[in-house]
Amino acid sequence: MGDWVRYAASRFAEADLGYGHGTEDPLDEAYALVVSALGLGPELPAAHHASRLLLGERQRLRKLIEERIETRRPVPYLTHEAYFAGLRFYVDERVLIPRSPLAELIAARFEPWLEPLAVRRILDLGTGSGALAVACAFAFPDASLVATDISEDALEVARINLRRHGLEARIELRGGDLYGALSHPTVPFDLIVSNPPYVPLALRRTFPPEHRHEPDLAFWAGDDGLNVLRPLLAEAHAHLHPQHGLLAVECGDAAPALWEQLSGEGFVWPDLESGRRDVLLAGVAALRSRVEERVHAR
Ligand SMILES: C[S@@+](CC[C@H](N)C(=O)[O-])C[C@H]1O[C@@H](n2cnc3c(N)ncnc32)[C@H](O)[C@@H]1O
Repeated sequence: MGDWVRYAASRFAEADLGYGHGTEDPLDEAYALVVSALGLGPELPAAHHASRLLLGERQRLRKLIEERIETRRPVPYLTHEAYFAGLRFYVDERVLIPRSPLAELIAARFEPWLEPLAVRRILDLGTGSGALAVACAFAFPDASLVATDISEDALEVARINLRRHGLEARIELRGGDLYGALSHPTVPFDLIVSNPPYVPLALRRTFPPEHRHEPDLAFWAGDDGLNVLRPLLAEAHAHLHPQHGLLAVECGDAAPALWEQLSGEGFVWPDLESGRRDVLLAGVAALRSRVEERVHAR
């Protein structure tokens, strides 16, 4: 098996592929393709690295390696498998391949910014494959969840993943534009998580071919990247628990435009293990007063 990883890595390096869908270099990518194609978990014990492959397995790998190079499709779209927060998800081109840094905060159950025992209702806005909602459901086993998306195609994929993880009874899927997807009046949420589109249109030119296989709806957010984030932030307070509600939102390329505007008490941009600083944690009171400030400034 190891020789196939080595061979795929050399081919990928030669082809100068783009990465960033769970792997960062040709060797990692080759390993991910080989273990996924063989139906093995993401961490294969070293004892198996020397295993010999059957003819059918070798044929399948050769085909996938060529397909990866020719089509520039990221590995998870070829094998229909992605890992997020240690969990396995079905993916296809109807959804973004899950990779949000929110996984790290979910694993820590948003402590110390939230009291986990107080979390009974969670909202995931723009759920895509359902990855954030499913990871939250495991991190907060007593909570019920609502997961929304504007894309009906994405919701079909999310449905597959809820079924796979046995969470259909705990996570309600709803279609619609941001909070418009919710039934009214809504019972407030203790936690809202979201990885919305935030890429400014001007960056389209810089996107590697691999990213062009992902849905447009997952990325593009107007000239400044704030088209979706602006209403998401402005209305969050109305849907959060009035005392302890917390919004956790990945802001990505749009983060620098928000660092200054959304700072001070109630706003935190945690330093993540990955070195990123693009997730905003905002308390309900801070969100509410920011909206009030804006109203008074008119
Ligand atoms: C960056 S992807 C994130 C998917 C998933 N949460 C994840 O982290 O892998 C953004 C998702 O938001 C959805 N979306 C875009 N605009 C939306 C809107 N106005 N309301 C609800 N969902 C939206 C897209 O269809 C896409 O599935």
